[in-house]
Amino acid sequence: MNDPKVVLVTGANRGIGLEICRQLAAAGQRVLLTARDEEKGRSAAASLPGEVHFFHLDVTDPGSYENVQNYIAAEFGYLDVLINNAGIMSSTRGFDKTDLNDIRRVMETNLFGIIGLTQTLLPLLYKSSAGRIINISSGLGAISEMGGGYAGYRLSKTALNGFTAALAADLSATNIRVNSMCPGWVKTDMGGSGAHRSVEKGAETAVWLATAGQIPNGKFLRDKIIIDW
Ligand SMILES: NC(=O)c1ccc[n+]([C@@H]2O[C@H](COP(=O)([O-])OP(=O)(O)OC[C@H]3O[C@@H](n4cnc5c(N)ncnc54)[C@H](OP(=O)(O)O)[C@@H]3O)[C@@H](O)[C@H]2O)c1
Repeated sequence: MNDPKVVLVTGANRGIGLEICRQLAAAGQRVLLTARDEEKGRSAAASLPGEVHFFHLDVTDPGSYENVQNYIAAEFGYLDVLINNAGIMSSTRGFDKTDLNDIRRVMETNLFGIIGLTQTLLPLLYKSSAGRIINISSGLGAISEMGGGYAGYRLSKTALNGFTAALAADLSATNIRVNSMCPGWVKTDMGGSGAHRSVEKGAETAVWLATAGQIPNGKFLRDKIIIDW
């Protein structure tokens, strides 16, 4: 294996985030499992094999960005991979019936939290020889296959994809690659029991984007293949 990478995953106490950490740690990477709930995060980190560190991180709390930045600087000195996985669901209603406050609430976590955390951690990503930012988006945010309902969630993921494409362009002269990915419809608390994908499959593309030698830049992927925005 190449040198282990330092990888931070947000919202990793359960669901796809936890599985991403499990696969990365099993592959020998140095994993920073973060969660907004200290107890759940510590117990999730303790349940995994390999090198897994826990750090408290609420993506809606800018104070927590500074804390994690200081921790990584002291503990590792750099960051190779940032996986923006934490996310919340909105009301299932469409724009015709959704309260604007519900849209704002979802944007805080699924968009502004990601932008703020990413900006704070960029100086540590610049120090990596091959930095990567992986934004966990959703087909529900793809303009090419847009449907109705889930107004806040759809908008947050469409905007997240816009952030991915623009940031990749902003960082094109650096060693950092930025991509969005859709995990598919995955059996988690968010996806529900009707989902047909396992967490193992849902985590696969993120793990590949974090560790593969050659990956795209500024793209939207599912199952390791570039898909339409
Ligand atoms: N499941 C699917 O079918 C599916 C499909 C497409 C995309 N996705 C995306 O995949 C990602 C993971 O989804 P999932 O299915 O694993 O969902 P999940 O089981 O509901 O887990 C979401 C995780 O995000 C955390 N989180 C929420 N708000 C946070 C905050 N402010 N700060 C830090 N962590 C926060 C949650 O922590 P708590 O435990 O504290 O609530 C939890 O650990 C999300 O971005 C989601 O939009 C999922």
